[in-house]
Amino acid sequence: MTLRPILIHPDPRLKTVCKPVTDITDDIRRLADDMLATMYDAPGIGLAAPQVGVLGRMLVMDCVKGEDEAPKPMVLINPEVIWSSDERSTYNEGCLSIPEQYGDVERPASVRVRWTGIDDKDHEDQFDDLWATCVQHEIDHLDGKLFIDYLSAMKRQMITRKMQKLKREQARG
Ligand code: NI
Repeated sequence: MTLRPILIHPDPRLKTVCKPVTDITDDIRRLADDMLATMYDAPGIGLAAPQVGVLGRMLVMDCVKGEDEAPKPMVLINPEVIWSSDERSTYNEGCLSIPEQYGDVERPASVRVRWTGIDDKDHEDQFDDLWATCVQHEIDHLDGKLFIDYLSAMKRQMITRKMQKLKREQARG
């Protein structure tokens, strides 16, 4: 298991529509393990493959909050939203590719999602509350969309400039 570097916005790989994963290979299983380890280490509640530079439709998530609750690592391959509630909810979202920046995003409060598991089987489930927000945020990543794309142009530009500055500082070391 290897921690993989997380790409920071702006990066063209974060704006790319990712390709379906066609086979659950050893590489894909290794990627899933690495992505979960990278997400927990960050720490974060979700991570999409393009955030570690792999342009395939795959994401990991675990939105369990309580310290005393058992973790629930999930790997979703080729996920598709097949139903969205009319009811909407707003969360103050963040993103591991946009560190320490947050913004309110309104999305459907519940969604049903169909995906292939790391077991190569078809799965379908309903996601609510934070899980619904997280799975929609991560699926957006697979379509090259970031949470800041829902914010005003002014807020988005302000955040993007901060990230450009952060990347220049990181490059200087
Ligand atoms: Ni994100």
